[in-house]
Amino acid sequence: MSQKTFLAVKPEAFKRNDAVGIVKMLEEGLDAKCVSMKVYTPSKELAEAHYAVHSERPFFSELIVSFTSGPVLGMVWEGEGIIDKARTLMGATNPEEAAEGTIRKNFAKSIGDNAIHGSDAAETAENEIKLHFPEAEFSEIASPSAKAEDLVKAVA
Ligand code: RTP
Ligand code: MG
Repeated sequence: MSQKTFLAVKPEAFKRNDAVGIVKMLEEGLDAKCVSMKVYTPSKELAEAHYAVHSERPFFSELIVSFTSGPVLGMVWEGEGIIDKARTLMGATNPEEAAEGTIRKNFAKSIGDNAIHGSDAAETAENEIKLHFPEAEFSEIASPSAKAEDLVKAVA
Protein backbone atom coordinates (compact mmCIF):
# COMPACT_ATOMS: atom_id res chain seq x y z
CA MET A 1 0.00 0.00 0.00
CA SER A 2 1.33 3.42 -0.92
CA GLN A 3 1.68 5.62 2.12
CA LYS A 4 3.44 8.77 3.30
CA THR A 5 5.98 9.24 6.08
CA PHE A 6 7.58 12.21 7.78
CA LEU A 7 11.39 12.26 7.93
CA ALA A 8 13.62 14.99 9.35
CA VAL A 9 17.36 15.54 9.48
CA LYS A 10 17.80 16.61 13.11
CA PRO A 11 19.51 19.91 14.09
CA GLU A 12 22.88 18.42 15.15
CA ALA A 13 23.30 16.57 11.85
CA PHE A 14 22.09 19.61 9.91
CA LYS A 15 24.77 21.70 11.72
CA ARG A 16 27.43 19.15 10.77
CA ASN A 17 26.43 19.65 7.13
CA ASP A 18 25.18 16.09 6.80
CA ALA A 19 21.72 16.92 5.40
CA VAL A 20 22.65 16.42 1.74
CA GLY A 21 24.49 13.15 2.46
CA ILE A 22 21.49 11.85 4.38
CA VAL A 23 19.06 12.82 1.59
CA LYS A 24 21.35 11.05 -0.92
CA MET A 25 21.06 7.85 1.15
CA LEU A 26 17.25 8.21 1.19
CA GLU A 27 17.21 8.87 -2.56
CA GLU A 28 19.36 5.84 -3.33
CA GLY A 29 18.02 3.50 -0.64
CA LEU A 30 14.26 4.03 -0.84
CA ASP A 31 12.25 3.09 -3.88
CA ALA A 32 10.00 6.08 -3.21
CA LYS A 33 9.46 9.73 -4.01
CA CYS A 34 10.03 12.82 -1.91
CA VAL A 35 6.89 14.97 -2.17
CA SER A 36 7.81 17.89 0.09
CA MET A 37 10.96 19.31 1.67
CA LYS A 38 11.68 22.43 3.71
CA VAL A 39 14.13 23.85 6.25
CA TYR A 40 12.79 25.35 9.50
CA THR A 41 13.67 25.62 13.18
CA PRO A 42 10.99 23.81 15.21
CA SER A 43 9.34 25.91 17.91
CA LYS A 44 9.09 24.54 21.46
CA GLU A 45 5.35 23.99 20.90
CA LEU A 46 5.98 22.03 17.70
CA ALA A 47 8.73 19.93 19.31
CA GLU A 48 6.58 19.14 22.36
CA ALA A 49 3.66 18.11 20.17
CA HIS A 50 5.95 16.05 17.90
CA TYR A 51 7.51 14.14 20.81
CA ALA A 52 4.40 14.17 23.10
CA VAL A 53 4.56 10.38 23.43
CA HIS A 54 7.86 10.80 25.34
CA SER A 55 6.68 13.61 27.65
CA GLU A 56 7.06 11.48 30.81
CA ARG A 57 10.50 10.12 29.89
CA PRO A 58 13.59 11.35 31.77
CA PHE A 59 15.23 12.54 28.53
CA PHE A 60 12.22 14.62 27.39
CA SER A 61 13.60 18.09 28.23
CA GLU A 62 16.95 17.27 26.55
CA LEU A 63 15.06 15.98 23.52
CA ILE A 64 13.09 19.24 23.22
CA VAL A 65 16.23 21.39 23.63
CA SER A 66 17.92 19.30 20.94
CA PHE A 67 15.02 19.37 18.44
CA THR A 68 14.63 23.17 18.77
CA SER A 69 18.38 23.94 18.70
CA GLY A 70 18.53 24.90 15.02
CA PRO A 71 17.19 24.14 11.56
CA VAL A 72 15.90 20.72 10.57
CA LEU A 73 15.39 19.48 7.03
CA GLY A 74 11.83 18.15 7.10
CA MET A 75 10.50 15.90 4.35
CA VAL A 76 7.49 13.90 3.31
CA TRP A 77 8.26 10.72 1.34
CA GLU A 78 5.68 8.56 -0.39
CA GLY A 79 5.78 4.95 -1.60
CA GLU A 80 4.87 1.33 -0.98
CA GLY A 81 5.56 0.44 2.67
CA ILE A 82 7.62 3.62 3.03
CA ILE A 83 7.20 3.92 6.82
CA ASP A 84 8.97 0.63 7.55
CA LYS A 85 11.40 0.96 4.64
CA ALA A 86 12.57 4.33 5.93
CA ARG A 87 12.90 3.05 9.52
CA THR A 88 15.03 0.14 8.27
CA LEU A 89 17.29 2.47 6.28
CA MET A 90 17.57 4.79 9.33
CA GLY A 91 18.83 2.00 11.59
CA ALA A 92 18.53 1.53 15.35
CA THR A 93 17.81 4.50 17.64
CA ASN A 94 21.14 3.90 19.39
CA PRO A 95 23.87 4.17 16.73
CA GLU A 96 25.98 1.61 18.61
CA GLU A 97 23.29 -0.89 17.57
CA ALA A 98 22.74 0.46 14.05
CA ALA A 99 23.52 -1.97 11.21
CA GLU A 100 26.18 -1.28 8.56
CA GLY A 101 24.79 0.67 5.63
CA THR A 102 22.19 2.53 7.70
CA ILE A 103 21.91 6.30 8.02
CA ARG A 104 22.46 6.23 11.77
CA LYS A 105 25.52 3.99 11.40
CA ASN A 106 27.00 6.59 9.04
CA PHE A 107 25.79 9.85 10.56
CA ALA A 108 24.64 9.45 14.20
CA LYS A 109 26.95 10.21 17.11
CA SER A 110 24.91 8.99 20.10
CA ILE A 111 21.37 8.03 21.10
CA GLY A 112 20.56 11.69 21.76
CA ASP A 113 22.29 12.84 18.56
CA ASN A 114 21.05 10.26 16.10
CA ALA A 115 20.84 12.32 12.90
CA ILE A 116 17.33 11.53 11.66
CA HIS A 117 13.73 11.17 12.73
CA GLY A 118 11.20 8.96 10.97
CA SER A 119 7.54 8.24 11.70
CA ASP A 120 7.09 4.80 13.26
CA ALA A 121 3.52 3.84 12.21
CA ALA A 122 0.68 4.90 9.90
CA GLU A 123 -1.11 6.92 12.56
CA THR A 124 2.00 8.74 13.77
CA ALA A 125 2.97 9.48 10.16
CA GLU A 126 -0.42 11.06 9.49
CA ASN A 127 -0.23 13.16 12.66
CA GLU A 128 3.37 14.22 12.10
CA ILE A 129 2.70 15.24 8.48
CA LYS A 130 -0.25 17.40 9.62
CA LEU A 131 1.90 18.94 12.34
CA HIS A 132 4.97 19.72 10.21
CA PHE A 133 3.31 20.27 6.81
CA PRO A 134 -0.06 21.92 7.58
CA GLU A 135 0.08 23.51 4.12
CA ALA A 136 -0.49 19.97 2.77
CA GLU A 137 0.93 20.64 -0.68
CA PHE A 138 2.63 17.58 -2.11
CA SER A 139 4.19 16.93 -5.49
CA GLU A 140 7.16 14.88 -6.57
CA ILE A 141 10.58 16.53 -6.25
CA ALA A 142 12.69 15.42 -9.24
CA SER A 143 16.05 15.38 -7.44
CA PRO A 144 15.69 15.46 -3.64
CA SER A 145 19.45 15.74 -3.03
CA ALA A 146 19.76 18.71 -5.43
CA LYS A 147 16.83 20.41 -3.71
CA ALA A 148 18.43 19.71 -0.29
CA GLU A 149 21.66 21.25 -1.52
CA ASP A 150 19.81 24.42 -2.59
CA LEU A 151 17.95 24.66 0.73
CA VAL A 152 21.12 24.15 2.77
CA LYS A 153 22.96 26.83 0.78
CA ALA A 154 20.11 29.27 1.39
CA VAL A 155 20.50 29.06 5.19
CA ALA A 156 24.33 28.96 5.23
P1 RTP B 1 12.81 9.27 16.44
O1 RTP B 1 11.43 9.29 17.04
O2 RTP B 1 13.58 10.53 16.73
O3 RTP B 1 12.76 8.92 14.97
O4 RTP B 1 13.67 8.10 17.09
P2 RTP B 1 13.21 6.61 17.36
O5 RTP B 1 11.78 6.42 16.95
O6 RTP B 1 14.23 5.72 16.78
O7 RTP B 1 13.31 6.54 18.94
P3 RTP B 1 12.25 6.96 20.05
O8 RTP B 1 12.14 5.87 21.02
O9 RTP B 1 11.00 7.51 19.42
O10 RTP B 1 13.00 8.16 20.77
C1 RTP B 1 12.89 9.47 20.30
C2 RTP B 1 14.20 10.17 20.43
O11 RTP B 1 14.48 10.40 21.81
C3 RTP B 1 15.87 10.38 22.03
N1 RTP B 1 16.19 9.39 23.04
N2 RTP B 1 17.09 9.61 23.96
N3 RTP B 1 18.80 9.36 26.18
C4 RTP B 1 17.99 8.35 25.85
O12 RTP B 1 17.98 7.31 26.47
C5 RTP B 1 17.11 8.51 24.71
N4 RTP B 1 16.24 7.63 24.26
C6 RTP B 1 15.64 8.20 23.18
C7 RTP B 1 16.54 10.02 20.72
O13 RTP B 1 16.94 11.23 20.07
C8 RTP B 1 15.41 9.38 19.94
O14 RTP B 1 15.61 9.51 18.56
MG1 MG C 1 10.22 7.69 17.51
